[in-house]
Amino acid sequence: MKKGFFITLEGGEACGKSTQVRMLKEYLDKQVNHDDFLFVREPGGTPLTEEIRKLLLNYEIDKPLPMTELLLFCAARVEDVYKQILPALSQGKVVIADRFYDSTIAYQGMARGIMSSKDILSLTKKIIGGLTPNLTFYLKISPEEAFKRKSKMSEGMDRIEKEGLLFHQKVKEGYDFISNLEKDRFYILDATKSPQEIFEEIKKVLNQKIPEYFKDDLSEEKY
Ligand code: TMP
Repeated sequence: MKKGFFITLEGGEACGKSTQVRMLKEYLDKQVNHDDFLFVREPGGTPLTEEIRKLLLNYEIDKPLPMTELLLFCAARVEDVYKQILPALSQGKVVIADRFYDSTIAYQGMARGIMSSKDILSLTKKIIGGLTPNLTFYLKISPEEAFKRKSKMSEGMDRIEKEGLLFHQKVKEGYDFISNLEKDRFYILDATKSPQEIFEEIKKVLNQKIPEYFKDDLSEEKY
C-alpha cells in the first residue's frame, strides 16, 4: 500500500493560496485516482471546526483574547488531525491542507506575539503527536504588495485579514522564520507570478515528489 503524503499550502493574506487550492482540486478531481487525494482547510472541514472557524473569523460580539485565539486554532487543529488527516494518511492518501501549524507560528506567534515562535512550534507539535508536513508550498509575497491586491478585492475581509500592515509584516517574518527552520520541507513560490505559472510549478514539484500518485496521465490535455 502507498505510504500517504502530507502537503500544506501556506502564505499571508492575498497571496493567491485559495486560487491554487481550487486549481489543484479541479485538476485532481478529473483524474482516475482522485480518491487518493483529500483536501482539508484549517480551521474547518468538520461540523465542529467549521463552528470554531466562524467564532475565530467572523464573531464580532466579543473579540477573543490573543491566548484564546491561539488555543481555538490549536483545538481546531487537534480535531482536524485526528479526525481527518491521520486517518487519510493511514489509508495511504495524499492530504492537501490549506494552512497548518506554520500559520499559527506566523499569525499567533510572530504577529500577535503571545509566545515565542519556538514555543508555539513545540506546543502545536505536542498536541498533534509531532505530525509534520512532508511538503509545504509557501506562496511568498510582500505585505505591501498584498495590501495593494487586497484593496482591489471585492469580498469582505475576516477579523484577522482586517489587521494592519504592521501585523502582516510580522506574519511574513513568522513565515520566514519557520521556512528557514524547517527548510527541507519548504518549497517557496513567488506569489507575484500569474496563477497559471504558479500552478505549473506546483504540478512540476508534485510530479517529482510523488510520482506514484501524480502520474503521466496528469497531462496538460486532460486539464
Ligand atoms: P484563510 O482565509 O486562508 O482560510 O485563513 C483564515 C484566517 O485564519 C487567515 O486570516 C489566517 C488565520 N489563521 C491564523 O491566524 N492562525 C492559524 O493557525 C490558521 C490556520 C489560520
